Amino acid sequence: EAIEKGGYEHFMLKEINEQPRSIADCMRGRLDANNGRLVLGGLRDYMNKFQNADRIIITACGTSWHAGLVAEYLFEEFARIPVEVEYASEFRYRNPVINEKDFVIAISQSGETADTLAAIELAKSKGATIFGVCNVVGSSIARATHAGSYTHAGPEIGVASTKAFTAQISVLTMMALKLGYQRGTLSENRYMQLLSELETIPSKVERALQLNDKIKEIAAEFKDSRNFLYLGRGYNFPVALEGALKLKEISYIHAEGYPAAEMKHGPIALIDEEMPVVFIATKDSSYEKVVSNIQEVKARKGKIIAVVTEGDTSVKHMADYVIEIPETEEAFVPLISVVPLQQLSYHIAVMRGCNVDQPRNLAKSVTVE
Ligand code: AGP
Repeated sequence: EAIEKGGYEHFMLKEINEQPRSIADCMRGRLDANNGRLVLGGLRDYMNKFQNADRIIITACGTSWHAGLVAEYLFEEFARIPVEVEYASEFRYRNPVINEKDFVIAISQSGETADTLAAIELAKSKGATIFGVCNVVGSSIARATHAGSYTHAGPEIGVASTKAFTAQISVLTMMALKLGYQRGTLSENRYMQLLSELETIPSKVERALQLNDKIKEIAAEFKDSRNFLYLGRGYNFPVALEGALKLKEISYIHAEGYPAAEMKHGPIALIDEEMPVVFIATKDSSYEKVVSNIQEVKARKGKIIAVVTEGDTSVKHMADYVIEIPETEEAFVPLISVVPLQQLSYHIAVMRGCNVDQPRNLAKSVTVE
């Protein structure tokens, strides 16, 4: 086991640190920005169905569902097709309206999640096309779908999903760009620009990983907190959900993720000097709005930890701790902004003496309903 951990204390830490490589592996042979090439083998025979779909339905559980939420923003922005993101466990029992014009994407690291598998069977029985985004090759979900693209993140052992999440988003991003280009909703110029930027992501994730020591300091400060709030908007809203889930899973601290603007509809009542609030406040189209949400928390004496874009000056004056990550296209930010949140949950859990790789009550793949 020590050998498998490659010198790391835990699989989770190893997997967090592997992300520059796992994202690159996921793009290898698929993306070649210089030549404007983007090929997803699994999509080839189904491109027509995909392109002409009336609707994309994404179904998954847990972290994979969060990747699905990011994909909703991606597909709607780049390809202008309506998207619904469904918890597999709700979808399958709801008698949903599905037909042959629906393109269903099932996302699963393990490829064995019982609810996701059942959702696939249901959608298939109604004539929809089912596309899988799985990590484990030859898994049940990979076999049950009509076609799919593997995430190629390599084996993920830690129960808390990290590198599989960023690889899922990488595949979904490539799918959205390809679809947008084919449908003509993305101009050639913009498409080329986005492909080039996507290629830089592994090196930007590498840079983000270097914030580890700073994040350890933040972890030491907040390890005894009883609650955490994670807030973000737009592409960073699913990242807030994911940050909160990571913390809950491995440190057993209660955490909630919310779209930052929803704070005023309830969670703001929780804020006092005891409440750490993690804001993902990168420079994007909702930046100004997030900054005013930060001010609202500050006015109520909440402790602010902010993930911002390198060089940000405004948030620095308001936040107690600032984590600066490399700049990228707004649509690609989740691939980078989630990394410090993974590290934060990891360090807090270690400091609390928790079993990081095998947290209580959780299994790596949930094969029960
Ligand atoms: C992630 O950290 C969790 N352990 C869990 O939410 C997981 O993402 C979920 O059970 C779905 O698993 P899958 O991707 O293997 O289908």
